[in-house]
Formats: sequence, structure tokens, C-alpha cells
Amino acid sequence: MYEAEFAEIYDHIHMSRGRDYTAEAGELARLIRTRKPAASSVLDVACGTGGHLRVLRELFDRAEGVELSEDMLAIAARRVPDIRLHHGDMREFTVGRTFDAVVCMFSSIGYLRDSDELDQTLACFARHLNDGGVVVVEAWVFPDSFLPGYVATDVARAGDNTIVRMSHSVQEGDKTKMDVHYLHGGPSGIRHLTDIHRLTLFTRDDYQEAFTRAGCSVEYLDGGGFPRGIFVGTNGKAGSGR
Ligand SMILES: C[S@@+](CC[C@H](N)C(=O)[O-])C[C@H]1O[C@@H](n2cnc3c(N)ncnc32)[C@H](O)[C@@H]1O
Repeated sequence: MYEAEFAEIYDHIHMSRGRDYTAEAGELARLIRTRKPAASSVLDVACGTGGHLRVLRELFDRAEGVELSEDMLAIAARRVPDIRLHHGDMREFTVGRTFDAVVCMFSSIGYLRDSDELDQTLACFARHLNDGGVVVVEAWVFPDSFLPGYVATDVARAGDNTIVRMSHSVQEGDKTKMDVHYLHGGPSGIRHLTDIHRLTLFTRDDYQEAFTRAGCSVEYLDGGGFPRGIFVGTNGKAGSGR
């Protein structure tokens, strides 16, 4: 899914969609510091190519990332060579340090297969938190807001390369199955790539219960800078500020 050929074009597609990592990271810092004013460290899980980390490292004394795809991680390492990046799985990583905040953005959590994995993942996030620490998770769509048959199209231009991305999504049981096709044209010709993503349509209760079982109080924020909605959890002494 996020092997080299797709990792290479990831940033071009997301730039063409107008994703503003600077604004998102700023909003993350605001959400975190509203709950833990003295927060100075953040771990970005499923950090992808490091779009948020590039900004988070300026906003926090310490920023680190965890990512499953070695190809995405290699791009992140080029973008933020000065910070620690860990190859790991969100369900069971150990980085050996704790943080004031753990964030998991752009629906990466949707790749988990079921509620057991969601529990395992939130517990893993909670183990990496300092007391009063904050967990921010950008959800995948809820089952009642999924649009079956939805087609998304993006065109990205990067130098003399053009990339067209088209996806078609259907529901299969409790999953979204998204077929993605890319046409990548450049001086040496046009290549056609295909990819399939399966994301679980967790309910709002599924997320909230997983936070609670991990020992975090949780609130759901609809809209704002994150159109798919965002869960913000706090463990231990919420708002202790230390
Ligand atoms: C949609 S991208 C989001 C990347 C980045 N957070 C962003 O906002 O651009 C999803 C990312 O989740 C990563 N991922 C999927 N399953 C994972 C897992 N079990 N553990 C860690 N990363 C995972 C993928 O490799 C991919 O980089």
C-alpha cells in the first residue's frame, strides 16, 4: 500500500489536495497545550512522509515518529533528518521513552482490522504517555457517514511529472474497500499503478470505548481543521500541565 512507488507520489497528491500540514500541526499543538500547557514532546504515530513532523519539531522541544512503511519512513528521514524516527507498528511498538502527546493523523487508525486491534493500539499509545498526556486520533469516517460508490479524483503536477489519482470506494462488511488507480506521466512515458486500501468503519463508540479502556478520558471534536473529526484523549491527571 505504501511501498516505494506509492510513497514517491504521496506528497504530490496531498499537496494537490491542498492539505496544509503547517496549519494542522499548529492546531494539534493548540489542542495538546489546551489540555497540557507545558507539553514539550510529541510522538507522531503512522507519521508517513513526515509532513506534520516537519512542523511539530519547531513547536515542541522533542518530536519523534513511528511508521510501518520503510519507504514512507525513508522519505520522512530525508525531510526531518535531525529527529528520531522509528520503524514500527502502531499496535505494538516500543520506543523506550514517553511523551506529553501521541498523535495519529489522517485516518491511519482506520487500517486496524477490528476492535481488539483498536484496544491494543490505544493501550500502546497510553504506555508512551507522560502523566496528564494527550492522545489525538484523526478518525476514519463513521459507518453512517460513509458514501458507497464515492469517487475521488486528484491531479497533481510536479515539475515535468503529472499524476492523476482516482479512487472508488465500496463497503464490504465493516470495511471500506478503496480501489485506487494512478496515471503517472513524465518524460519517459505514462505508467498505470493500482492499489487497494481496506479501512475499518469503526463507530464513534468503538473509538471512545477504546480510549476509555486505555485509561484515557476522551472527547470527540467534529469539524474544525479536521473534516473527518478528531478524538482527543487525556490520561491520568488531566490538565496537570507538567
Ligand atoms: C494516510 S497515511 C497518513 C500519513 C501521515 N500521518 C499523514 O498525515 O500524511 C497512512 C499511514 O499509516 C501507515 N500505517 C498503516 N498501518 C500502520 C501500522 N499498523 N503502524 C504504523 N503505521 C501504519 C501507512 O504506512 C501510512 O504511512
